[in-house]
This record gives sequence, structure tokens and C-alpha cells, in this order.
Amino acid sequence: MLNSPTSLINRSVAAVLPYVPRPLVWRISRRYIAGVSLEDAYRVIRELNQLGAMATLDVLGEDVTDPDQVTGYRDLYLQALRDIADQGLDCNISVKLSEMGLRFEPERCLEIMAQLADAAAERGNFVRIDMEDSSVTDQTLDLYRRLRESHGNVGAVIQAYLRRSRDDVEDLLANDIAHLRLCKGIYVEPAEIAFKAPQEINASFNELLKLLIDNHAEKVGIATHDPALVSHAKRLIAERIVPRERYEFQMLLGVAEPLRDELIREGHPVRIYVPFGEHWFAYSSRRLRENPAIAGHVIRGLLRPG
Ligand code: FDA
Repeated sequence: MLNSPTSLINRSVAAVLPYVPRPLVWRISRRYIAGVSLEDAYRVIRELNQLGAMATLDVLGEDVTDPDQVTGYRDLYLQALRDIADQGLDCNISVKLSEMGLRFEPERCLEIMAQLADAAAERGNFVRIDMEDSSVTDQTLDLYRRLRESHGNVGAVIQAYLRRSRDDVEDLLANDIAHLRLCKGIYVEPAEIAFKAPQEINASFNELLKLLIDNHAEKVGIATHDPALVSHAKRLIAERIVPRERYEFQMLLGVAEPLRDELIREGHPVRIYVPFGEHWFAYSSRRLRENPAIAGHVIRGLLRPG
């Protein structure tokens, strides 16, 4: 698969992207990123709410190494939680732990996450901990377990491509803290720890979803744009008569909008992931370098009328 013409094109696009002028990259990225400021994000979230979708807000940034920058990100999220409540938006927050200093100040990271969870709880809101690459899977799940001892309004993410995920899900179910977003996984991981073939990843996704639903997980976020996985999930939800408060479909801003609209029309709860922030350019370039398969979406974006 790595040497297919498509993957070669994808890798070439990913390699040159950092040298493409920012306005052009912005033309492509603006479909997937709400803008640079909180106000930009609120405008997009309001539109999504009007369409019948909920949202989750993501301040772009990761692998922060400066404690002051961590404080800055924390304050942005605290501000967002206040504004979301004041403006009556239907939106929670998604946070990357490496943005909150996980890699260099893990205890402070836990304190900050507790602060965010407190601020969310005061307003009846919720904090999702995004899952990053496999170098922090254990640390992320450990922090999640510790946070759940004191905060019920926090959830984690499970990546279907990781071979360990079945064990993780079983453990979280056994501890009654399975408030989970299930996704395929976006990072490039070695075959020893991750399924590589698309059909294996999809089989794992379907199996984990079934496990979560059959064991009455607290809540499942079904995060995919893959029509086959969405159809499978819809069948399972109908068969098991899963109540609305136990699941939601989740999608990324600007992706698979017809499928999103279909789910909304059918009455399923749908939440859209809304990334925004000053660091959109660095973030987009890095994601593309790391996982050139995403470049295929960029090519399609370029071909789309502006
Ligand atoms: P797949 O990659 O097969 O895509 C199916 C179809 O969707 C494609 O053919 C294409 O048309 C479209 N599509 C998918 N992604 C697109 C994109 N970026 N731009 C344009 N079109 C696209 N991962 C992770 O490791 N940790 C996390 O915390 C999260 N969080 C998360 C939240 C939410 C709400 C979503 C939807 C996804 C994530 N992910 C994630 C990313 C996830 O792991 C996965 O990489 C992407 O969702 C793509 O996988 P699909 O299941 O959509 O299938």
C-alpha cells in the first residue's frame, strides 16, 4: 500500500506543504479549522447548533514544552467554558494532554485537567481527553482513571487500530468509567502494536463498539466518517435499542457533511469536532508530515471551488 501511486502523491504533497504559501494552505484548511480566535470558533459552533449538531471545541496545539504556554492554553479553555455557558452554546471541550504539559509536568497536567473538569462541572459541561500517539497511551489512560476518581464529567478516547484497545475497553468497563469516544486512530504506529490493514481496523472498531454497547458503557462517541462503520453502528443501535443519552455520532468539522446531515435528519445525536487556534499552520503541516494519507483529503480540498 505504501508504494501505490496515491500514497506516493500523498507523500509528495505532505513533503512540500510546509513550503506552500500560508494563504493557499489556509484556503484548504479553512474547511477543517474554525479560525484563529475563540470568536471564530463560537460563530461556527452557533451555525452547527442551528443545524441540529452539538460541538466539541479543540484549541489547536500539542507537545507544549513551555510552562507559560501551558498556562495560556489552560486559560483559553477556561475562558471557552465560561463563554459557552454565557452564550448558551451546545458544546463541550476536547483537550490534548501534551498541550497541558503531560510530557514534562505530569502532576501539574493532572491538576490543570481537574481545574478544567471543575469549571465544566460548575456549568453542567464535559471534558473529553483526546488520545495522542502510543508513547502516551498509558499515561493518558492513567490520568483519566485518576481524574475519574473525583470527576464524573470526563471522558477518554479509544483508538481501534491499537491491538491493546480491547483490554483497555474491558478494564474501563469493569471499572464503570467507559465514557469513551471510539475512533480508528490517526497517528502512524508500528505493526507490532497496531493493526495496519483497513479491514482489520474496521473489524476492531465494530468489535469494540459492540463490546461497549452490550456492556452498557456510560456513553459511546462513535467518531468516524466511514459509511460502512456508520451503517454498522446504526444497525447495532436499532437492534439493541440504545437510548439517545448513551451514544452520539462524532465527526470532524468540514468532513462528510452529507452523512452528518443524514444522521441529524434520522434523529441521531451528532457532535462535530471544531478545532481552532493560532497554531493551525504548524498543526496542519505536522499532521500531514506524520500521516501523509491525510494529504489525499488536501488534494480534494484544492480541487474544490474556493
Ligand atoms: P477513513 O479514514 O476511512 O475515512 C472515511 C472517509 O471520510 C474518507 O474516505 C474521507 O472521505 C473522509 N475523511 C476522513 N477523514 C478526513 C479528513 N481529515 N478530511 C477530509 N475527509 C476525511 N484520532 C486519534 O488518534 N485520537 C483522537 O483523539 C481522535 N479524535 C477524533 C475525534 C473525532 C470527532 C473524529 C471524527 C476523529 C478523531 N480522530 C482521532 C481521528 C480518527 O482516528 C481518524 O483518523 C479519522 O476520523 C479518519 O477515520 P475515519 O473513521 O473517518 O475513516
